[in-house]
Amino acid sequence: MDIIKKIPALPLSKKLTIGLFGYGVVGKGLYDVLHTTPALQTSIKKICIKDPLKKRNLSAGHFTTNGEELLNDPDINVIVELIDDADAAFEIVKTALINGKAVVSANKKMIAANFDTLLQLQFEYGSTLLYEGSCCASIPIIRNLEEYYDNDLLSSVKGIVNGSTNFILSKILNEGLSFKDALLQAQQLGFAESNPALDIQGHDAANKLSILLAHAFGIITLPQNILYSGITAIKESDAHLAKQKNLKIKLVATAMKLDGEKLAAFVLPQFIVADDELANVNNEFNGLITESSFADKHFFKGKGAGAYPTAAAVLSDISALRYDYKYEYKKYLQQSGLSITNDYYLKVFVSANDLNDIVKDDFEWIEEWHNEQSNNWVIGIIHADRLYQGTWWRANEVSLILTENPIIENIDYKKIVKQSLALAGII
Ligand SMILES: NC(=O)c1ccc[n+]([C@@H]2O[C@H](COP(=O)([O-])OP(=O)(O)OC[C@H]3O[C@@H](n4cnc5c(N)ncnc54)[C@H](OP(=O)(O)O)[C@@H]3O)[C@@H](O)[C@H]2O)c1
Repeated sequence: MDIIKKIPALPLSKKLTIGLFGYGVVGKGLYDVLHTTPALQTSIKKICIKDPLKKRNLSAGHFTTNGEELLNDPDINVIVELIDDADAAFEIVKTALINGKAVVSANKKMIAANFDTLLQLQFEYGSTLLYEGSCCASIPIIRNLEEYYDNDLLSSVKGIVNGSTNFILSKILNEGLSFKDALLQAQQLGFAESNPALDIQGHDAANKLSILLAHAFGIITLPQNILYSGITAIKESDAHLAKQKNLKIKLVATAMKLDGEKLAAFVLPQFIVADDELANVNNEFNGLITESSFADKHFFKGKGAGAYPTAAAVLSDISALRYDYKYEYKKYLQQSGLSITNDYYLKVFVSANDLNDIVKDDFEWIEEWHNEQSNNWVIGIIHADRLYQGTWWRANEVSLILTENPIIENIDYKKIVKQSLALAGII
């Protein structure tokens, strides 16, 4: 007790008055969460929604459809943006930052598409934008990348960053559900985006990887500059093969430093061996593995979707505003010279109903070849830029899954020729 008396009193925490945009899955979750943590000294003054006729569990006085009411209210010092329309969200966040209000958002699509401008606005107007909920929901990854891995040089960040695709793949592989039923369950449980194409076609994971790249490596790039696909083409036969070989299939986002100032960045389905940490990240959980020079390996796991896990990250950002926390974007400002490249090779498994749908000429080398009536596949090495530029492997009849250790920086052609001759029984 005497010790406590000697400690100087903490500065009085700021009173935060929130203008909340959105009262859907996450907005409602945040409302509940804030009302069970009264110590935060935070109140929601008004909630802006889109549809004035929708039935709500709060009285009409809580709501407005006029966003200006929140954005121009001098009492409101924090705007929390939790809507599902990225374009409208950008206008809201832009105006709030210009008006000097702090902003918390979970809108990865809006942030990834406007990273440059949002950064400029923060520097120009000195206002704060926090968005921990936008990447892996409840996993505190952005603040860790900003603060903990400040000086320890990261060599890679990889993981499962989309809760609904992980939910769907888990249900297909572990419980034998069909893709359609698994997606329906994900939607019913509030894990899927209101437009599920964002999840299943990989756009959401690419948005998250582009945000992670900024905080992990100081690289600001649009998601469309990243090689990515989703899980829509994964077939029952792929799941069957994975089971036979005791492998899992996960949609994995990878950012890995290569030799020199280059970084490989992609989001693709991948076979995962049973003893990989990611193999046991199931359902709506997300998992991230960081590797760095001194700390070596860290594994983060937590719920990557859903009302309360996402609201928890938003709450943590709101709480951080009380002590004026802001991202410093140090890695970006230090300009390490690191840039994304597609100049490397990937070892891939490609299956198709018709073997002719697989463009064999695009491969540097085909290692395995399987040809049965409705189960055709090859395993081979392909240049990442051929995938980035190519379209055949994105067709719905073709499924491309990375092998367990997919990145190959340089190909040893002499070795390949020797192995091919040996396979053919020539040497
Ligand atoms: N759900 C998750 O697990 C999760 C996880 C991480 C991040 N996020 C992100 O969190 C955000 C919200 O997701 P959600 O799942 O809560 O979405 P949601 O359930 O579809 O709710 C969207 C809310 O936004 C409101 N809205 C849409 N356009 C608006 C506009 N122009 N002005 C004011 N309000 C508007 C809707 O109003 P009405 O109620 O009137 O329709 C609704 O209340 C999205 O950016 C999403 O990517 C979601």
